[in-house]
Amino acid sequence: VKDWNGISQVILRSPRGASARISLHGGQVISWRNDRGEELLFTSSKAIFKPPKAMRGGIPICFPQFGNCGSLEQHGFARNKMWSIDNDPPPLHPSDGDGKVFVNLLFSPAEEDLKCWPHCFEFRLRVSLTMNGDLVMISRIRNIDAKPFNFSFAYHTYLSVSDISEVRIEGLETLDYLDNLCQRERFTEQGDAITFESEVDRIYLGSPNIIAVIDHEKKRTFVVKKEGLPDVVVWNPWEKKSKSMTDLGDEEYKQMLCVDGAAIERQITLKPGEEWTGRLELSVVPSSYCSDD
Ligand code: BG6
Repeated sequence: VKDWNGISQVILRSPRGASARISLHGGQVISWRNDRGEELLFTSSKAIFKPPKAMRGGIPICFPQFGNCGSLEQHGFARNKMWSIDNDPPPLHPSDGDGKVFVNLLFSPAEEDLKCWPHCFEFRLRVSLTMNGDLVMISRIRNIDAKPFNFSFAYHTYLSVSDISEVRIEGLETLDYLDNLCQRERFTEQGDAITFESEVDRIYLGSPNIIAVIDHEKKRTFVVKKEGLPDVVVWNPWEKKSKSMTDLGDEEYKQMLCVDGAAIERQITLKPGEEWTGRLELSVVPSSYCSDD
């Protein structure tokens, strides 16, 4: 654990040299590097690393809502709050198997959080690195209240890409999506693979549990594996929106792509005492491994 501008960060290192850095502000993964030391997540050069807002990049966690409806703040409050290290978490289910190098974090709502979302919960997050340097995140949210509650959720994952025009996503073809650029109107994806030439802000529904983000120029593929997370958010702000964002450089949209494992369209309902688990596993393989070109 290291102190960075007054905020603790946990650094994980796998035996072969991959690493991850997790901030207790938001439980946000702010760096993930492979065993050659290459950064795999995007962080804006204009990112602001101090509360109250999550910094622009890494993997902020959107909870208890994804998006911006009702009185709750955009993408919920969990990403903006301080988390703590959980030294004694209840054991994970054996089939959740994850890496040997890990940290367990805990977020419980403070009084001010209960004022805007009156539900008592425990949010346990385990971040781990496997022997291969894959990043595994397991979120467990437990209702410790006397009444049920609903929530939506996303691992808002900023992947680092060489050039957005050279990137495509496979695994979302033919799916229905809600378009955030048209008041969440529902459309059906027509393309063979998703490519990018303008702003994209979509929630793909009921996606397969493995999707691939292929970076032609870098000749590498991010493999996004997920469980308990039926939806996938795909977001790139493109030029005009980037210029309106103070914590994103005007041209930086070219080097980032958000691909989030999420549960949005159908909210998760937890009765008192129930727990929900959402698991995300990110790995990187050479592109030839996944596609023919
Ligand atoms: C996306 C939303 O997923 O997140 C966008 O659909 C939003 O509309 C983006 O701009 C970033 O959100 P924020 O709150 O981190 O600026």
